[in-house]
Amino acid sequence: MLRSVRGVPMDERAKHSVEILPVGRTLMVPDGERIMLVALANGWKWPNVCGGEAACGVCVLEVQQGMEHASPIGRDEAVRLAFIRKADRPGARLACQLRVSGPMRVLKRGARLLANEAEQPSEEGAG
Ligand code: FES
Repeated sequence: MLRSVRGVPMDERAKHSVEILPVGRTLMVPDGERIMLVALANGWKWPNVCGGEAACGVCVLEVQQGMEHASPIGRDEAVRLAFIRKADRPGARLACQLRVSGPMRVLKRGARLLANEAEQPSEEGAG
């Protein structure tokens, strides 16, 4: 799923910190990679229906800081953002299309690290 970009394998690329709110966790995203695909590959649940085809709009997030490190909006993303009536909303981007080139802070309700849930203490045996 995560491949080389511009001939540089993912493991050798610089990684950028993307703080994800409201969960308050940081995801390290290889340079030029898409936020949602990196999140899914690293054990996150990220709301979506189409699997990253810019067809559902469910993955939409709000960039709060670092917009200068976001890839330009492509045609498919622009069409989908308009369809879900987010095209005029500042910072609105599809997480499945947004490629990262530097640190960012984004807001995406419902995105969370599933592995974190597995680390939570069980209520069985408590008390
Ligand atoms: S995952 Fe469907 S539009 Fe992004």
